[in-house]
Amino acid sequence: MSVHKDVRRITTNTLQEMKHRGEKISMLTSYDYSMARLVDGAGIDVILVGDSASNVMAGHETTLPITLDQMIYHAQGVVRAAKRCLVVVDLPFGSYQGNSKEALNSAIRIMKESGAHAVKMEGGSEIKESIQRILTAGIPVMGHLGLTPQSIYKFGTYQVRAKEEAEAERLLSDAQVLSDCGCFSLVLEKIPAKLAAQVTSAIEIPTIGIGAGSEVDGQVLVINDMIGLTQDFSPRFLRRYMNAGDQILDAVARYVSDVKSGDFPNEKEQY
Ligand code: KIV
Repeated sequence: MSVHKDVRRITTNTLQEMKHRGEKISMLTSYDYSMARLVDGAGIDVILVGDSASNVMAGHETTLPITLDQMIYHAQGVVRAAKRCLVVVDLPFGSYQGNSKEALNSAIRIMKESGAHAVKMEGGSEIKESIQRILTAGIPVMGHLGLTPQSIYKFGTYQVRAKEEAEAERLLSDAQVLSDCGCFSLVLEKIPAKLAAQVTSAIEIPTIGIGAGSEVDGQVLVINDMIGLTQDFSPRFLRRYMNAGDQILDAVARYVSDVKSGDFPNEKEQY
């Protein structure tokens, strides 16, 4: 019998119910087994295996270089750890923009090879056909609008999106398209709080914000930023809950010193 028999798995339906009863959804990224085990154990609702792995795990400047194989590798570890939360995996740049058949193949690979529960895709009406094809295969899709980092070279900056009326209207209409075509939720990244609130009350599905204010149905942060593993990234929307970077620096420096001085290992730490 499973030791997790009493754990009720969060599903896409759970998130919809949470929106209806006004319970906020908590989401964090994770990219490996050890971190996901802690994050899931602490009671997170959703783990996103974000393509931000390209930045925080691999050290790239953008999310563009990460491959489908690499995303699947990260997702496999997370899925092995996650007993309660919903696991959503980003379709990486270049794995779905070409055509809907390619998009479906990429989504199927993620679901089959990692065991994840859903995929996330950046974009609005321009990727509607791909989303619909993926949904037809029974794969839940999370949308992502506002600042969409896979399009950074189109935007040119990581600044707040949709401040102008025309872009705000386009975003509202894209959010409606994604909701109507069957996405189960929608990430809103770095847009004015007022616009995020408007989207949240206009559409049926839960919205999850990052730099989108408080009047959304849930919040997401990149775990490495939130615990202070990344130290050179401090946007206004980021709340740091600990300074893991400094603690690791201190621990490693003490270890180096103990090894050099011969203090480690002591008698109790050997056979
Ligand atoms: O890749 C990622 O971490 C994301 C979040 C910032 C929403 O897409």
